[in-house]
Amino acid sequence: MSSATGQSTQGSQDDVPSAYPPPPEFAENAVAKAGLYDEAEQDRLAYWAKEARRLQWDTDFTDTLDWTDAPFAKWFVGGKLNVAANCVDRHVDAGNGDRVAIHWVGEPGDTRDITYSDLLTEVSQAANYFTSLGLVAGDRVAVYMPMVPEAIVTILACARLGLPHSVVFAGFSAGALRSRVDDAEAKLVVTTDGQFRRGQPAPLKEAVDSALGTGDDAAKSVEKVLVVRRTGHDPDLNWVDGRDVWWHETVANASDTHAYEAFDAEHPLFLLYTSGTTGKPKGILHTSGGYLTQVSSTFHNVFDHRPESDVFWCGADIGWVTGHSYLVYGPLSNGATEIIYEGTPNSPNEHRHFEIIEKYRVTTYYIAPTLIRTFMKWGREIPDAHDLSSLRLLGSVGEPINPEAWRWYREVLGANSAPIVDTWWQTETGGMMVSPLPGVTATKPGSAMKPLPGISAKIVDDDANEVAQGEQGYLVIDKPWPAMLRGIWRDNDRYKETYWSRFAAQGWYFAGDGARYDSDGALWVLGRIDDVMNISGHRISTSEVESALVNHHGVAEAAVIGAADETTGQGIVAFVILRGSTVDTGDDLIKELKDQVSKDISPIAKPREIYVVPELPKTRSGKIMRRLLKDVAEGRELGDTSTLVDPTVFENIRKKK
Ligand code: WT7
Repeated sequence: MSSATGQSTQGSQDDVPSAYPPPPEFAENAVAKAGLYDEAEQDRLAYWAKEARRLQWDTDFTDTLDWTDAPFAKWFVGGKLNVAANCVDRHVDAGNGDRVAIHWVGEPGDTRDITYSDLLTEVSQAANYFTSLGLVAGDRVAVYMPMVPEAIVTILACARLGLPHSVVFAGFSAGALRSRVDDAEAKLVVTTDGQFRRGQPAPLKEAVDSALGTGDDAAKSVEKVLVVRRTGHDPDLNWVDGRDVWWHETVANASDTHAYEAFDAEHPLFLLYTSGTTGKPKGILHTSGGYLTQVSSTFHNVFDHRPESDVFWCGADIGWVTGHSYLVYGPLSNGATEIIYEGTPNSPNEHRHFEIIEKYRVTTYYIAPTLIRTFMKWGREIPDAHDLSSLRLLGSVGEPINPEAWRWYREVLGANSAPIVDTWWQTETGGMMVSPLPGVTATKPGSAMKPLPGISAKIVDDDANEVAQGEQGYLVIDKPWPAMLRGIWRDNDRYKETYWSRFAAQGWYFAGDGARYDSDGALWVLGRIDDVMNISGHRISTSEVESALVNHHGVAEAAVIGAADETTGQGIVAFVILRGSTVDTGDDLIKELKDQVSKDISPIAKPREIYVVPELPKTRSGKIMRRLLKDVAEGRELGDTSTLVDPTVFENIRKKK
C-alpha cells in the first residue's frame, strides 16, 4: 500500500482537485509532526506509553499492554489516575483556572461561560452529593439529560468517584431508558424537568417517571432521581417523595471541595448502549487510562489543538460516543475552550450555528455529514452572511461524507483552505482510528485517508488477505488499541461473538464496515455491511425497528432496510405484512405505525416510508432478503432472485410502492 500522504494535487476530468495537500502555513506549525507515523510504526506500544504520559498519573504504569487474555485488553497495567482530575483539577493547578472551559449556549438564548475553576467547584459539589447518597466506586449512574452544563458536571462527577455513567440520549423513549437502566442496574438517574426543542419546552422527567414505573413494576435498582430544573414549564411536575430530589436543593448546597481518589487504569469509566444486529442494545464498556489516553491524544493531534487560542465546537449530543469523547473527555483533558450548544441548528432560524461561530470565533468545528448536507439545502447565503474567518480546521464524523458535501464544507465554511479531517471510528473504538493528520496528511473528498499513528487497520477479503489498491473488503483492526471497548456489559460471549469471531483465527477485530483502497492506497469507508443502518450518523438496527413494528397489534411481520437518502445518508424503509384481521386504513395506519416506532425507540428511528405488502421475499431457509428490498426501495433493477421461494412477490411489492 503506497503512501496516502502524497503532496501532489491531481486534476480529475473536470479539473476539480481529487486531493488537497496540507496548506504550507498550516503544515509549518502543525501540532502533529510527520514523524509520528514512523515513530509509532517502529514501536507502537512505546508510542502509546508516551501519549499516556501526556496525562497525570498518580501512580505510573508498569506495563503498557497486557493482551494475554485476548480479546480482553488491559492497558497501562498498574497505573492509577483520576479521569476527572485530568479534565479539571490539572488545569486549575497549572494556573489556568480562569480559562473558559465551556461557552454554553442555551436554545432560548441564555448563555454561561464556565471556567475550569467553576467546573472544579461544581464537579466537587456533585461528587460530594453523590457520595452522601451512599454511592461508591463501581455503582452505575444513568444520565438522561439534554445538553445543559449539569450534564457535563454529572459525567465528570461520576468519573471522579469511579461511578460508571450510562448516558441515555434524551431523545430516546421511556422504554429505551428503562431497558438501559435495568441492564446496568443504575442506582441513580439524573435528568431535567424538561428540555427545549425548537423553541418549546418539552417534558423529560415524565419519561423518567414512566420508565421507572411504580409498585411491582418499579425499576428495582433505582434509589434516587436527581432533577435539574431547566424549563420550569410544569408547575405540577410529578414528584415521587423519597425518590426524587432537585439539583438546586442538594448539589448546589454541597461542599465545593472534594479530594479525589485515583483509580486503576482499567477501572470502568462508562457504559454506552449502541445498536447491534439484534434487537437488544449492547452496553459497550470503556475503562479509564487507555480510553483517556487515546481520546486526549487524538484530540490534540487531529484537531491540531492550541489551548491558548482555539475555540473548539463539536456538534454532537452527549448521548452519543462523539459527545463522550470529543465534547467531554478529549477537549477537557486538553484544557480546551469549547462551545456546548443545547439546541437544534435551525432554532430560532438557520443562522444559529453561524452566529455562534462568529460570536465566539470558533476555530475548529466537528459535525456529521448530514448537517453539512442540510446546510447545503438551506443555501450558502446563510453561512455567507457571517464572518466565519476564525474557522481553520473542519471535522466530519459519523457516516461516509460524499465528495460534494466535503467540497462545499471546505469552500463555504473553510474559505477554500481549511483542512478537513474525516474521522472514522465507532462507539466500540472509543476514539478516532482512521483520519488524516492536518498539516501532515493530504486530504481527499470522501476519504478518511489512513489509520492514525499507533492504530493498525487494514482492508481484507473473506480469506483475511489484504485487498489490493482499487479493491474493497472488510475493515479490520489487527492490533489492540488503548481506547478499545473492554467488553459488552455482562455479556462476554456476545462480545467475542460480535467482534472477534469473523476473523477469529487471526485475532482481529471486525468493525462491521466495508471499505476500499483507492489507487493511491487511501482508505474509503463504504459503510456497514451488516443489518445496522446509519441515519444522520445515528446507529439503528433493522431488527430494533422491526420489533417495534410488530409490537403494533395489526402487524404480522416486518422487514426494514436503510435506503440511500440525500440528506440523512440513509432513510428507514419498512415493509409490513398485516394480520388477517387488520383493515388497511391507508395513511392513518401508516401514521400509527410510524408513531409506534417513535414511541418504542425514538423519533430518530421513525421510518421514512412504510409499505403494506402481501408477502416478503424470503430464501428457502426463511431468511428475509433485505438486499432485494433495498433494490426495490432505491428503485434499482433487482439483483439475483434465484434463491427466492417465490420470485413473484416482487411484482406485488412493486405494485404497492
Ligand atoms: C459507525 C459507528 C464515530 C462516532 C459516531 C458514530 C460509521 C463513523 C465514519 C466516517 C464513514 C463512518 C461507520 C461506523 N462511521 N464515522 N468518518 N466515515 N463512516 O458512532 O454510532 O458507533 O457508529 O458509523 O459505519 O461503523 P457509532
